[in-house]
Amino acid sequence: MKIAFFDAKDYDKPSFVREGARADIEFKFFETRLGEDTAELARGFDGVCVFVNDDVNAAVVDKLYSYGVRAIALRCAGYNNVAVEHCFGKIHVFRVPAYSPYAVAEHTMALLLTSVRRIHKAYNRTRDFNFSLSGLTGFDLHGKTVGVVGTGKIGRIFIEICKGFGMRVLAYDKFPAQIEGCSYVSLDELFARSDVISLHCPLTEETHHLIGREAIGRMKKGVIVLNTSRGALIDAEALIDGIKRRIVGAACLDVYEEESDLFFRDFSGHIVEDDVLARLISMPNVIVTSHQAFLTEEALSNIAETTVKNLVDFAEGRACENELCYRCGKIEDCKKNRSEKCF
Ligand code: NAI
Repeated sequence: MKIAFFDAKDYDKPSFVREGARADIEFKFFETRLGEDTAELARGFDGVCVFVNDDVNAAVVDKLYSYGVRAIALRCAGYNNVAVEHCFGKIHVFRVPAYSPYAVAEHTMALLLTSVRRIHKAYNRTRDFNFSLSGLTGFDLHGKTVGVVGTGKIGRIFIEICKGFGMRVLAYDKFPAQIEGCSYVSLDELFARSDVISLHCPLTEETHHLIGREAIGRMKKGVIVLNTSRGALIDAEALIDGIKRRIVGAACLDVYEEESDLFFRDFSGHIVEDDVLARLISMPNVIVTSHQAFLTEEALSNIAETTVKNLVDFAEGRACENELCYRCGKIEDCKKNRSEKCF
């Protein structure tokens, strides 16, 4: 099987070459992203392998189909960048639902600790032999309340980590579960009572700009907002406003709504056009990482292994548990109820 691998980075190649060789899958690596202008590169391939910022809209799906592509293998969990409903009956779509939820949950805590204990500032100071402590006062996480939105694989691990720090845990999920030591509350109550808010739900129409002006208006003064999920869960301009009004005490963002033209690339030495991101980065209480929460050795191995397994299931005509099915029009529900192929 020949697979066109878009948005390829150096760190992707070793694990995919290794896993591909085991299953007789040849990956051709393209540094460019998949979109309407680049879909042509997939002509003659059996499938494409895409990541979070490839744009697989309906027009791209039509092009891929006409070039003979019959499988889209997402090497990530989120699939908001793929017109899955448009693929129905034409192209099978697979994802990697979990590769290392620990990687993302641990990165979230790393951001929180960095922010609360001003580690980023201390690191820069001591490198300059500035040993002053002025402005580095943090606060204890112990006894504080964390509000976790989305208690799936990553959210639950983050909850366990927070419990280890002695934090009180509130949660909101569209489908609440039973989690020891965690109280489910309404989103409004979570916003009103949390000292720290962390987002771990998917980006859907319902969750788009979940944190906007109105939500920020209901939050506790000084709240820390963490987003390692998807950028568009937060209205970035409303966040800036919330920070300027001293409601949001700090923000830690691994994702950003307009990240697709910027993240994963080196723009040092360039003038970045995005004023909203530039403003956020200029703020002393904002930490931005560029969608790196997943980036651990373990996660990279798991991503390659699962993607190759998905493609082998596809090639052999088997049902695949990681296929995104749109037969009944509801991807998540459909997947839960069915175990055969989507079409
Ligand atoms: P999951 O599917 O295990 O959990 C998602 C949870 O969100 C589920 O419990 C679901 O019921 C809940 N949910 C769905 N709609 C909701 C709504 N409207 N309001 C509140 N909760 C809702 O997903 P997982 O693996 O925990 O991943 C969470 C998110 O993390 C993904 O959607 C993805 O966007 C992001 N992610 C980010 C990475 C990074 O490198 N920064 C890497 C991997 C995932």
